[in-house]
Amino acid sequence: MSGTRRPFLGVSPVLLLLFLAASCAVVVFGAGVPESTARSIRRVNRRHGPFLGVVVSNAFEMEPLLRSPRFSPAKGNQLPPYLDVAGRRFRFGTIGEQKVIIVMTGLAMLLLTLFDIKGIVHFGIAGNADPSRQIGDVAVPRYWAHTGLWNWQRYGDGPNDELAFESNGDYTRSLGNLNFSDYTTTTNASGNNNNLLNAVWYEPEEVFPSNSGTPELRRHAFWVPVDARHYDLVARELEGHVILESCVVVAGNGNGTAATTTTCLPRRPVVATVERGCSASVFVDNAAYRGFLRNRFGVTAVDMETAAVALVSMQQGTPFIAVRALSDLAGGGSAGSNEAGVFAPLAAENAVTVVVELISLLN
Ligand SMILES: *[C@@H]1O[C@H](CO)[C@@H](O)[C@H](O)[C@H]1NC(C)=O
Ligand SMILES: *[C@@H]1O[C@H](CO)[C@@H](O)[C@H](O)[C@H]1NC(C)=O
Ligand SMILES: *[C@@H]1O[C@H](CO)[C@@H](O)[C@H](O)[C@H]1NC(C)=O
Repeated sequence: MSGTRRPFLGVSPVLLLLFLAASCAVVVFGAGVPESTARSIRRVNRRHGPFLGVVVSNAFEMEPLLRSPRFSPAKGNQLPPYLDVAGRRFRFGTIGEQKVIIVMTGLAMLLLTLFDIKGIVHFGIAGNADPSRQIGDVAVPRYWAHTGLWNWQRYGDGPNDELAFESNGDYTRSLGNLNFSDYTTTTNASGNNNNLLNAVWYEPEEVFPSNSGTPELRRHAFWVPVDARHYDLVARELEGHVILESCVVVAGNGNGTAATTTTCLPRRPVVATVERGCSASVFVDNAAYRGFLRNRFGVTAVDMETAAVALVSMQQGTPFIAVRALSDLAGGGSAGSNEAGVFAPLAAENAVTVVVELISLLN
């Protein structure tokens, strides 16, 4: 069930993106892009750009968008319906008045490198870390962090001991740690709960902003803000205004039971601007860790992709916003836990509803 709750990609999207960030020159200008495709890309940019990039987590979340009557795929007489580059498909079309390119994650860097992109809208479903929210609520966080870069401290060292390479400026203790001994369930007779895993300290990512004018200028980034104008637009125009779906129709088993049954959430889901979300190459199905993320970082949405898209957008200086429909509490522990699987498609639909409304407002 946890497997259907939100996307699990075998390859770390964050690492893939960072790899692409490091090697995009090779991917783009090497053997990866045949000359005929490169010509098509140049033509598409010249005649039809700039586009809004719509970056989606996986096929489960992309399908409802492709089926949406608000999305019109390119017809092909001028703009092709899609271009395949480096094993992925870049789909062209319009949502409202906006020309969009839709692509699945892992490709945000390639999208920005190849095409004329004026902004990125990312969407999908996410684990929830806020017990006051419900399955199907659509969260739009103001900040995103990658919470998967750690300095794993040696056993025996404590909070006042410097980390390896900390004095070089590579690592910091300012963001705090997770101490494994805090989660020990048994303590021995002398009250010792020490854990050989000691503690991991959370570290900011490094970015080299492309618009800084100075190459190799390193900046540390932990909380990456989304585009403030887009965030305000969501707060003003969508929060409290968009009507989201709250029921799913479940097909009967054809054994004399009702053909279909309708299952509804306790209340109608809402769009909510929230403060924070985080991502890592980690599928969180653990209540203790979910609680840690909530208490330490104040996050609502927990996923595996958005921070990578946020960091790439920051690196490239491209405006970015992410829309994440929440599934059940990551790690379980709410009344709706047993129904997370049933409501995952509804969450994906709700994310698409909000994304389409948002894009229509961006004109
Ligand atoms: C983790 O907790 C143990 C046991 O309380 C303590 O000895 C150790 O110093 C702590 N480590 C850090 C980094 O806080
Ligand atoms: C409790 O654990 C500590 C650390 O492993 C060990 O040094 C100590 O001997 C243990 N005490 C008992 C009573 O088992
Ligand atoms: C329908 O009923 C039969 C006999 O009770 C059972 O073997 C079968 O698994 C049921 N099919 C479904 C889809 O529940």
